[in-house]
Amino acid sequence: MNQYTPAPIQSDQPSHLMPTYGRQQIAFVRGRGSYLYTEDGTEYLDALTGIAVCGLGHAHPVIADAIAEQAHTLIHTSNIFEIPWQTAAAQKLAEVSGMDEIFFSNSGAESNEGAIKIARKYGNDRGIHNGKIIVADHSFHGRTIATLSATGNKKVQAGFEPLVDSFLRVPYGDVAAIAQLASERDDIVAIFVEPIQGEGGVNTAPQGFHYLEQLRELCDQHNWLLMLDEVQTGNGRTGKYFAYQHTTIKPDVLTTAKGLGNGFPIGAVMVAGPAVGVLAAGNHGSTYGGTALGSRVVYTVIDTILKENAVENAAQIGQYLVEQFTARLAHLNVTVRGFGMMIGIELPKDCAELVAIARDTKQLIINVTAGHVVRLLPPLNMTQQQADDLLDRLVPVIQDFLK
Ligand SMILES: Cc1ncc(COP(=O)(O)O)c(C=O)c1O
Repeated sequence: MNQYTPAPIQSDQPSHLMPTYGRQQIAFVRGRGSYLYTEDGTEYLDALTGIAVCGLGHAHPVIADAIAEQAHTLIHTSNIFEIPWQTAAAQKLAEVSGMDEIFFSNSGAESNEGAIKIARKYGNDRGIHNGKIIVADHSFHGRTIATLSATGNKKVQAGFEPLVDSFLRVPYGDVAAIAQLASERDDIVAIFVEPIQGEGGVNTAPQGFHYLEQLRELCDQHNWLLMLDEVQTGNGRTGKYFAYQHTTIKPDVLTTAKGLGNGFPIGAVMVAGPAVGVLAAGNHGSTYGGTALGSRVVYTVIDTILKENAVENAAQIGQYLVEQFTARLAHLNVTVRGFGMMIGIELPKDCAELVAIARDTKQLIINVTAGHVVRLLPPLNMTQQQADDLLDRLVPVIQDFLK
């Protein structure tokens, strides 16, 4: 036993963990702001933040204090009682999201399950049984049976058939394909997309955020719900509190998780307009959703993001990073895209090995998604100096790789 780990890792002992993850052979035992540390004290610059989770960086003192104080006061009662911190967290989240009603869950997939249930119930309430939800190619919505069925990735679905048959799939950005479906069927109840596809490769629609406005128009025309998955893009990640705020429209259903708890597991499904009132007493629930502890974390995270102007910082530093990567990697046949602190650098070939190269030669934590897209999800509050450091570490790695 030492300060950071429960026991020395015994490499000769069999692991009792299910082998569901392809893990890197490195363990971080401590974090601070934009940095992670191994047990021997080696410092790594973290441009991934636990896959878009720790937007305020690691071990943020205000969040840590709130967790400790609430843990010493009251962690959990039950949703059969009033939970003042949950009411307060909902108020804060309603202010930053513009949504009307909120249900707290524990993860992104669970928030999306809530959205799918809302779409089903919305259909059934209108006499549309087995209502269909339009989803996109290359989307990612989670690993539960319903959310993996919604996900546009065969690898995620393989072996778990039969899939939930509620989803109709179209190419991301293709509104004509949706209009075509609308002309053929009368059982559609909702559209469900990510404003920027995260796992799919940091994909923006060819028409940019105007896509969301086009989807809003189609939903209004046909009385469908517009449901946005902002599990990854929410909580300031793209330089707006929610990515849909880059547009003039508002969704009917909005889901989030990840950055909502800065590492504490909590999610939310939010409703507005025609989706309000669809779920009534007894229709949905969760033992852990919105505990006093989780809710206080949400309240404190939102409050801190606002007080520290972290969203504005993400927009500004993110734009700087995109401009600098674009300039420094010019002539290398790469495409740099993204908004705020959600950045993808698409390379002309598969590049999964860059994760280990950046980690072991530059002490830099990055991710590669969709095979050939370097994905960067740094803390929202990254400083200019840290952004320059990130550029200085990563640019030569990519240059060498493409030489
Ligand atoms: C857009 C999106 N939706 C849903 C999920 C699933 O979230 P969770 O892993 O918390 O269930 C993710 C996770 O990467 C995501 O990026």
